[in-house]
Amino acid sequence: MSANPPAGADCTAWQQLQAAAPALRARSLRELFAVEAERFAHCSVSACGLLFDYSRQRVDAGVLDSFKVLADQLQLRERIAAQFCGERINITEDRSVLHTALRRADGATPPLVVGGQDIDGLVRSERERVLDFAERVRSGAISGSQGAAFNLVVNIGIGGSDLGPAMAVEALREFSAGAPRVAFASNVDGCQLVDILAGADPGRTLFIICSKTFTTQETRSNALAAREWLRGKLGAAAVPRHFAAVSVNAAAMDEFGVNADYRFAMWDWVGGRYSIWSSIGVSLAIAIGAQNFRAFLAGAAELDQHFQEAPWRANLPVLSALLGIWNSNFLELPTLAVLPYDQRLARLPAYLQQLEMESNGKSVRLDGQPVTQSTCPVIWGEPGNNAQHSFFQLLHQGSARAALDFLLPARSSSGSQAHQDLAIANCLAQAEAFAFGQDATQVEADLRRQDLPPARVAALLPHKVHQGNRPATLIMFPRLDPATLGRLIALYEHKVFVQSVVWGINAFDQWGVELGKKMCESIVPLVREPVLAQGASSSLRGALQYLARERAS
Ligand code: F6P
Repeated sequence: MSANPPAGADCTAWQQLQAAAPALRARSLRELFAVEAERFAHCSVSACGLLFDYSRQRVDAGVLDSFKVLADQLQLRERIAAQFCGERINITEDRSVLHTALRRADGATPPLVVGGQDIDGLVRSERERVLDFAERVRSGAISGSQGAAFNLVVNIGIGGSDLGPAMAVEALREFSAGAPRVAFASNVDGCQLVDILAGADPGRTLFIICSKTFTTQETRSNALAAREWLRGKLGAAAVPRHFAAVSVNAAAMDEFGVNADYRFAMWDWVGGRYSIWSSIGVSLAIAIGAQNFRAFLAGAAELDQHFQEAPWRANLPVLSALLGIWNSNFLELPTLAVLPYDQRLARLPAYLQQLEMESNGKSVRLDGQPVTQSTCPVIWGEPGNNAQHSFFQLLHQGSARAALDFLLPARSSSGSQAHQDLAIANCLAQAEAFAFGQDATQVEADLRRQDLPPARVAALLPHKVHQGNRPATLIMFPRLDPATLGRLIALYEHKVFVQSVVWGINAFDQWGVELGKKMCESIVPLVREPVLAQGASSSLRGALQYLARERAS
């Protein structure tokens, strides 16, 4: 790999894509299917238990060829290898990016040694501690200060220390029989914690403070409030039996009073939003048990191998990344809606918001120069059926355009296949409607069948036309189980990496969240004493004064 690898915009393949874009922008999916009726056969890939159907994306053979050339010109194979072997590709923080090491199979060869450190050994020993802890919490072998088994585990964390476990615990609810309930408190306003504690039995409640840094304001304030609550109920001596923690910051865990046996390490080469595979996943491990957690890791490892080895045309993360780039940079679709047709994946859009937007919400290239094209699209979404009855109107007929990712299991997560069959029908109907729409001729024929007067037909017709041509990827899988969830998350993680390579940005830092955090620190005292805010902007002073008045009344 060259010292200064090119970004997508520097490659001739990018110019080829640019040249192809106007024609594809003008072409409808109806036309693409008319010339290539068997698009599904040509534009779907089955790998790692996922069926990735991109036949409803607005690409042709020329665009797909240019994707391949682009990947080669970007030296993507070498860039992937650099990530997996621990090169310090997070250049602004001078760190390796090794979340993939967290899910390597035991005995994988060659062993992963980075900077002389046996990463496999490190990961394995901490993972075994976490899984052993999880199993013992589940069985009641680890109990509260009064000897009762835990029936409630409260994960206190935010961002990557919350979203991954929260999303996955919900996704894998079917696999958590017999486990304590796992609840999540992230928001600084305290509402979640109050709600959770309202029904909690202190003697049976375990708190897990998850914070890579252990300095995050939201997590610290929730952790301190939880400790106060527990002390108030059971006394200070009970704290070590009711608090576990995950962090790189051992001193802060000491200071908090976390029992040495109940604390778990992570490492600076695991980014927060990539940390579900690490000790941060302990609440998930408690929910689903060690065996299922291992299956979750194995699913991701399978996708890792696929990502490293599959040819570009059959490589799911690469296809997903380049289709995303095509949609946002060439077809000018500035957002991606993630639409799972499984309620258990309700938190997936929120999880992907952090994964994608915190990773690739950047405007500066690795070399410090500004990027010359748009980068990460806005990611949003909801479970598909609910979304149909809220924002799908805009997607079908509004002026704002979005690319769409549908996620669809064949088998039910609720135990009722009859329900899932309806979800399947809805998902497929929407994918078809978004692709092909309903043109004026079809609408007119429809209206005429209703025997409406011609004037009424003419008046209604423009309101009922659906242009279609909304590009979508449909990701199908047999059922939502631990291995499948692992594969899905790894797919999106690698997609994010590939897109960062194309845009020439660093997907693994997050400087954009720091300014607000720093400013918040200086505003905390002003909330109580607005008079100290002289010199602040009039907007800030005005808001502080209003809030002080309202707080006092
Ligand atoms: O929001 C910024 C961020 O640093 C995320 O990247 C991270 O996942 C989250 O805060 C929580 O950080 P920590 O685990 O250190 O509490």
